[in-house]
Amino acid sequence: MLMLILSVAFVLFVLLNVLPLFKGLGRWIDARLPVFSFLVEHLSHYPAPKNLNLWYVFGALAIVACAIQFVSGIWLVMYYTPTAEKAFSSVQLIMRDVPYGWLVRYVHSTGVSCWFIVIYFHIFRGLMYGSYKAPRELLWISGVTLLFLMMAEAYTGYVLPWGQMSFWASKVIISLLSSIPVVGNDLVVWLQGDYEVSGVTLHRFFAFHVVGFSFLILLMILLHIIMLHTVGSNNPDGVDIMKHKDRKGWPLDAVPYYPYFVLKYIPIILVYLFVFFAIVFYAPTFYGLFLEAENFEPANPLVTPAHIKPAWYLSPYYAILRSIPDKSLGALAMLLSIVLWMFLPWLDLSPVRSMRYRGWMSRCALATVVSAFILLGYLGLQTATGWYLLLSRVATFLYFSFFVLFPLITYYDRDLQVPERIPGV
Ligand code: HEM
Repeated sequence: MLMLILSVAFVLFVLLNVLPLFKGLGRWIDARLPVFSFLVEHLSHYPAPKNLNLWYVFGALAIVACAIQFVSGIWLVMYYTPTAEKAFSSVQLIMRDVPYGWLVRYVHSTGVSCWFIVIYFHIFRGLMYGSYKAPRELLWISGVTLLFLMMAEAYTGYVLPWGQMSFWASKVIISLLSSIPVVGNDLVVWLQGDYEVSGVTLHRFFAFHVVGFSFLILLMILLHIIMLHTVGSNNPDGVDIMKHKDRKGWPLDAVPYYPYFVLKYIPIILVYLFVFFAIVFYAPTFYGLFLEAENFEPANPLVTPAHIKPAWYLSPYYAILRSIPDKSLGALAMLLSIVLWMFLPWLDLSPVRSMRYRGWMSRCALATVVSAFILLGYLGLQTATGWYLLLSRVATFLYFSFFVLFPLITYYDRDLQVPERIPGV
């Protein structure tokens, strides 16, 4: 009984005396560095359209996935040695001797795949609801830049374990640069730091992975969020919520981000983490998709693997590269397959944003390009022979046709009337 009274007294003492001190401290800091008011304005009071659905959790999940990579990555760097002689064995050390090293490594290797899954859903959501259209063009372009940076980060990271696939995949991709006219060969030597892929190359990729691309990603995410909060979120109906405001200037179809969406998305983030750790503990290689079996062999410049393939999240672009017989044109097509997305805001001539109010032609165009991309992803992991090669060429043709036909389709398609206000919520 005495313990209970003492505990209640202690809690009351903390509530009445200590917390106000923190409040005062908070106000003191905020007057000098407005961190708290910034958080309140952007996380709590941010006017979010009231019909945001589950597709809108992928942005938050992308931040969670990014944080997981940074935390596990910093920890891995403490034990990893970026030299050709020691890289492979230092990864073995992490897996076998460092306490819980296996766990941190699997978190990092599973994390990259899950981050890409999240990002591909995030992009698909943007395509479905026309989130790239005015006034969100720059936000969209910053997103495509983030995709580029993530690919560079993932590629440089893939090289670091210095296994067979790390070595040969880096050789294949670096050799593509030699197809750039005039400067190509010099660029290859500059990037490799040597006349061959060697320990010097490994060290450079380590620097790019740990310092270069990772900081650019952080910077770009910051810009991405600033742009989002400047123009405001789109929504599944593509209605402009800023047109109708109350007397205080609050949009009639918006609710504050906190508590409504924070509480709605927290359970989904927990489900994501549950699935994520289920993979980490029970299927970390994910049937060779998340960790390649060949990469458990140390790099050997004298033995070429029978089938060099990229990680699954880069395989659609690799399939495009291989489907074109000319190496330079293939490399150009691979680059264009991402760069062209930056022009989407201007290729879409429809006055309507969301696919909910688009005609059947626009829907078919979106379904075709997404199916072609998924098919290319599958084909990029197979050998480039026979039917696989033929199918890659068909899928590449369909993929690029989208960019040519989309302006025509969106111009002539019969869209529905978009409501003035968000309907039925
Ligand atoms: C590290 C990668 C990324 C992070 C952390 C990130 C984060 C976010 C967050 C937190 C939001 C707001 C919540 C939401 O609408 O889901 C958002 C919105 C958005 N993002 Fe990303 N994003 C990333 C990559 C991308 C990519 C690759 C694209 C497109 C190619 C993209 C395009 C957009 C667009 C258009 C919006 C506004 C969506 C709307 O209002 O309907 N983002 N992003």
